[in-house]
Amino acid sequence: MFLTTLLPALLLALCVVAKPVALRSGSSHSLPISKRLNTTSIHNLVHHDQLRAKYLKSRACFNGGLDTRTNQPVENQAVQYIATIGVGSPITNFSLAVDTGSSNTWIGADTDNPYVKTSSSSATSNNVTVYYGSGSFSGTEYIDKVTLTPELVISKQSIGVASQSSGFSGIDGILGIGPVDLTAGTLSPSESASIPTLTDNLFAAGTIAYDSIAISFAPTTVESIINGEISWGATDSKKYTGSITYSPLTSTSPASEYWGVDISVVYGKSHTVVSETAGIVDTGTTLILFATDYYKKYKSATGATDDSTTGLIKFTSSQYSKLSSLFVTFGGETFELTANAQIWPRSLNTAIGGTSSSIYGVVSDLGSSSGEGLDFILGYTFLERFYSVYDTGNARVGLATTSHTTATSN
Ligand SMILES: *[C@@H]1O[C@H](CO)[C@@H](O)[C@H](O)[C@H]1NC(C)=O
Ligand SMILES: *[C@@H]1O[C@H](CO)[C@@H](O)[C@H](O)[C@H]1NC(C)=O
Ligand SMILES: *[C@@H]1O[C@H](CO)[C@@H](O)[C@H](O)[C@H]1NC(C)=O
Repeated sequence: MFLTTLLPALLLALCVVAKPVALRSGSSHSLPISKRLNTTSIHNLVHHDQLRAKYLKSRACFNGGLDTRTNQPVENQAVQYIATIGVGSPITNFSLAVDTGSSNTWIGADTDNPYVKTSSSSATSNNVTVYYGSGSFSGTEYIDKVTLTPELVISKQSIGVASQSSGFSGIDGILGIGPVDLTAGTLSPSESASIPTLTDNLFAAGTIAYDSIAISFAPTTVESIINGEISWGATDSKKYTGSITYSPLTSTSPASEYWGVDISVVYGKSHTVVSETAGIVDTGTTLILFATDYYKKYKSATGATDDSTTGLIKFTSSQYSKLSSLFVTFGGETFELTANAQIWPRSLNTAIGGTSSSIYGVVSDLGSSSGEGLDFILGYTFLERFYSVYDTGNARVGLATTSHTTATSN
């Protein structure tokens, strides 16, 4: 009943065209995000990201039919960005992976930190099931009070409570901040209903003035640290430099199901690596993935070779000293990804099974050819260098440079 009463408000909300405003300093519309690298579960970052890419590309084809995704091997995500949210009244805190590539928010993956029902909790008559690139969860959908910060409180948020899950060790679940349409088909029996996201509900209630979120990540060279921030309904001018460039969401499917945009990428002065094409920006992917043919162009332009231990590409020090920038054209502006931004932090080489003296690259193979409607993923090795805005109200994605864009921290 909650879903049906909220839908008209949401549709209205979606029609409002508004620009995100700059957040005043001291505002508490931001939630800290911490990065966690699980060294025991990293054996192949690339494999994990490719599984996710394959899933994101195929998801569009599953419309409640027979689901073969359950056959995917389960693999714990090696690098995660985690935010803590409170559920219930009084609250229980849950640590959730921040995911722009899915839109269900759920808890209960860690059985040591179970859902505590309080006066604000009510079960719905729906079960919920979501499959991810590797892993899945299923359980019951509840309505409860969710507290992000003292000012960002949603009195009736629909959340999943897992009764079973796989692939999520060390976290309580997912904070799904992708487009709301990705929730369609996850409830049973209400298959056709979508579940308003946290952002949708904050906007519908007037808690935030704009239906958008913005994410700031900083490059890190340690395994666990608070180094990010997610802002609801505003952008935080302290976290970026210059102005934000916006690009409309792509109309090319399946990239259009996510935070999809059209970009082109040139290596150095004139080596086209990616001709203008559609792909996505995704916090749930670690690396920067290009369709196989684009990736091969990058490899041959840079001279990089495959490293079988880590699955990443590897540069000799001479290749690295000559490595040019990658120039990403987005929304009519060019964003420069420096040579240092194209390599894995060397202080974390051994954490991913590599050798400390090697130089590994973060550009990797998407695992399929271009021309399939999702030809690249800009994962968080990219987002650590640029501020990003996910603007539902204006159907666009924004990028801006930050004080970390040209840092040589890697
Ligand atoms: C929940 O987390 C917040 C932010 O980290 C903290 O301030 C608060 O004390 C925690 N509350 C409980 C009940 O653990
Ligand atoms: C790290 O991954 C391993 C293997 O998947 C898992 O058993 C462990 O619980 C994880 N630790 C954390 C802190 O996430
Ligand atoms: C919900 O899940 C339970 C436990 O798996 C199952 O017994 C029940 O039939 C499901 N209900 C619906 C409506 O799918």
